[in-house]
Amino acid sequence: MLILRHTRDWNRTGQTDMMESFGNCSRPDPGNGQIMRAVIIHQFGGPESMIIDTVPIPLPAPDEVRLRVAAIGLNRAELMVRSGNYPLPKPPPVRIGFEASGRIDAIGAEVKLFEVGERVAVIPGTFNATLQGTYADFICVPAEGLIRLPIHLDDTAGAAIGMGYFTAWGLLKLTADPAPGDPIFINAAASSVGIPLLQICRKEGYRSIAATRNPDKLDQLKLLGADEVLDSGAGNITRRLLNLTEGKGVQVILDPVGGSRFEELLKALGPRGKAVIYSSLDSSPLSFSPRLLMSRNASLSGFLIFSAVTDPSVLTEGKNYIQNGIDSGEFLPEIARTFPLDEVADAHRFMESNRQIGKIVLIP
Ligand SMILES: NC(=O)c1ccc[n+]([C@@H]2O[C@H](COP(=O)([O-])OP(=O)(O)OC[C@H]3O[C@@H](n4cnc5c(N)ncnc54)[C@H](OP(=O)(O)O)[C@@H]3O)[C@@H](O)[C@H]2O)c1
Repeated sequence: MLILRHTRDWNRTGQTDMMESFGNCSRPDPGNGQIMRAVIIHQFGGPESMIIDTVPIPLPAPDEVRLRVAAIGLNRAELMVRSGNYPLPKPPPVRIGFEASGRIDAIGAEVKLFEVGERVAVIPGTFNATLQGTYADFICVPAEGLIRLPIHLDDTAGAAIGMGYFTAWGLLKLTADPAPGDPIFINAAASSVGIPLLQICRKEGYRSIAATRNPDKLDQLKLLGADEVLDSGAGNITRRLLNLTEGKGVQVILDPVGGSRFEELLKALGPRGKAVIYSSLDSSPLSFSPRLLMSRNASLSGFLIFSAVTDPSVLTEGKNYIQNGIDSGEFLPEIARTFPLDEVADAHRFMESNRQIGKIVLIP
């Protein structure tokens, strides 16, 4: 259980260091003195370093909407933010949280495409999470970074759209761009990016080969749409991938693990194949022989959502793809577990346990 603190008497002062750092996008409302809860990291550390504080409810800038947050999707990168292992634009105190769903309760003067009352999900990277982290009751975010939630998708599922599906689209469609039928190896597939990757593979007719280190997750990955599943902890993954592909190798490797075992994956990449790295869950140095790429005329790329969404055309293309998928019902997030906001530390501990399949969600 976390401590609820109200460290700033903003009614009296009207401005504090924290508020000054909010900048234009989150001005405190000086009129009615309303406050809200927000998780703030004053010092990097373990799960207990996240403090539920009280801060002013922000006002939207002209291009922003304000959301009453309904559900908050947790992300592995937030463990790194919390522990001080993520490059941030400012030192603590910082807010935390990259994605959420919610209902619009105020809009800026320039916002034309959305109305008060609409239910939306936010795309990470379209706002500054150290100032407007989503672990809060309200956030102000640019309208251009929103996706409308269809009626059949509840708020909890909505909180699992932005990061997972945009990243999965970026990896498969924007970067690797395989052909229907191509075998795609998805490492750490039980993650909240892995499940959207399986659903895009199904939608596009790619052949998904999903890996997890945990044999207990294999059956559920199959149920969630994987064409084939592999226990990546069982050894000789190169041979098993080659066996699955009649010796030809996979066309695409999507890997958030990296580390010393990456070379084993490259050995199972087919001619003119594509490997895309999108994280480094294994912190040991990434090492591989460049000959493995050269001999296959293969390519190695990276993808980062926070860079991708800075290109307006990429943001629009990705949002449209996701909107179609959720509207049609082809994309349906898998929710591992929900926690109340005041159990945020337990939610981070659960993520660190790696027991989850899909998205962990906080409910404010
Ligand atoms: N580049 C981008 O734009 C981008 C965007 C979003 C997420 N990501 C990355 O994608 C990954 C998944 O994110 P998430 O938030 O969905 O995380 P998540 O739900 O916590 O899933 C991570 C999964 O990875 C596996 N794993 C953890 N540590 C590992 C290790 N050392 N070696 C191998 N597997 C390990 C675990 O599954 P098993 O034990 O079942 O294998 C774990 O359940 C993270 O690395 C995250 O940083 C990148």
